[in-house]
Amino acid sequence: RSGPVKRTLESYYTTIEDFPAEGILFRDITSVLGDADGFKLAIDEMLKAIEGEAIDVIIGIEARGFMFAPVLAYELGKPFVPVRKAGKLPRETVSATCTLEYGEATIEMHADAFPPGSKVLIVDDLIATGGTAKATAQMVEELGGVVSSFLFVSELTYLNGRDLLEGYKVHSLVTF
Ligand code: PRP
Ligand code: ADE
Repeated sequence: RSGPVKRTLESYYTTIEDFPAEGILFRDITSVLGDADGFKLAIDEMLKAIEGEAIDVIIGIEARGFMFAPVLAYELGKPFVPVRKAGKLPRETVSATCTLEYGEATIEMHADAFPPGSKVLIVDDLIATGGTAKATAQMVEELGGVVSSFLFVSELTYLNGRDLLEGYKVHSLVTF
């Protein structure tokens, strides 16, 4: 045998029971980010997943999408656009409401975030019900953008978020 044992990306996650509500198995991304090897592995695998895709703009969804999308934007030399919780963005916005695994949210994006026809990559740490991702795609399309693909570090398959994103290309690196 030679060399160190390679850890999987999944192995850097910690799981917390009953957070933030009873019955929820919370998959904590902070233990991935909090390990330099874990963070590097996540970014490397994300870049690999979208290799060869035509992308003009990279969107990250507040807050945990902000931990990944700007790194990819920097690496690929593309602009980063934030999708934020309602009331945070200072200029004219478009908005969409989504139902989540635990609650509901309205999210917003600047109306001039990218030119019409832009190919947009949508990045988040995790897909649960897919509500947040779907709402983001609606805003992108309202502005004349084209969703090139969705990229998630992890996916809760038992919530069938992929079904909500039918017709789109969806990448996820770890499935729970
Ligand atoms: C989590 C997660 C995704 C979303 C996924 O964010 O980071 O953005 O939920 O859920 P869905 O697929 O059911 O829409 P959360 O709303 O908890 O906010 P945070 O990133 O600010 O912690
Ligand atoms: N966002 C929505 N559901 C989640 C879960 N179970 N773990 C971590 N983040 C989430």
